[in-house]
Amino acid sequence: MTEIVHTPEALQQTLAGTREDAGLSLVPTMGALHEGHLTLAREARKLGHPVVVSIFVNPLQFAPGEDLEAYPRTLDEDVAKLEAEGVAAVFAPSPETMYPHGPRTTVQPGPLGAVLEGKTRPTHFAGVLTVVAKLFNLTGATDAFFGEKDYQQLALIRQMVEDLHLPVRVHGCPIVRDEDGLALSSRNRYLSAAERTRALAIPRALATGSLEQARALLDDDPSIDIDYLITTAPDLSELPADYSGPARLLVAAKVGNTRLLDNVAIEV
Ligand code: PAJ
Repeated sequence: MTEIVHTPEALQQTLAGTREDAGLSLVPTMGALHEGHLTLAREARKLGHPVVVSIFVNPLQFAPGEDLEAYPRTLDEDVAKLEAEGVAAVFAPSPETMYPHGPRTTVQPGPLGAVLEGKTRPTHFAGVLTVVAKLFNLTGATDAFFGEKDYQQLALIRQMVEDLHLPVRVHGCPIVRDEDGLALSSRNRYLSAAERTRALAIPRALATGSLEQARALLDDDPSIDIDYLITTAPDLSELPADYSGPARLLVAAKVGNTRLLDNVAIEV
């Protein structure tokens, strides 16, 4: 039976019964769950600890004018999916219980939070890190699961855990894609059928495994508006000149009004 709790107090009560167990796994999400999220829950289950999935559309990580109000909220369907995955508890708090004082004490990401996604969304990662730190503390999780889909987010969470000595193991999980190659995302539902077809140029470009070839493909495509397309080291640092070895090819691009993210491991 999956317990559904809406307040930190109820969460603590629910988890009290699992405390003799040595571990607890957390999967933070904003809901509108798809196979990408469910894969994280499955990976978490493999550790053998109880799994808590949080569903919270975190206002702190949305800037004014972004899609906070429009963001899909499908709690009943989400809970049904998580029940089928054998999740012990779903934590679905309200903004008021999470931020009773509004944004006050926050976690700032440092320089890595100001590049790539942070350039377009300067307050985004402080919002992400603040809520993730709160979720770590509220659950007392020993293990937490994140997708490589949001590669910079994963890197920043690893950084926060290291820099603040948080007692959590961070697990990164590969991107789950639709059959046609598009990375699953809750925001894909904003795409029209025609836009969705055009968006396939993004995974096709990344699949070349080469920055130059990816750029040639996407530059030729008038329906894709590239925000950034770059190669970095796996930890997102700049590639040294003459570097050869594992790297990451990352893209953010707009198709219509929808901003899509994708990335892939490559060798340079
Ligand atoms: P959300 O976008 O709901 O994503 C929740 C988790 O699912 C993240 O770790 C994300 O990287 C992962 N995920 C999303 N799509 C995926 C895919 N196609 N394959 C694999 N993993 C995927 O990311 C957030 O929420 C929020 O920023 C959050 C961390 C919950 C903080 O509010």
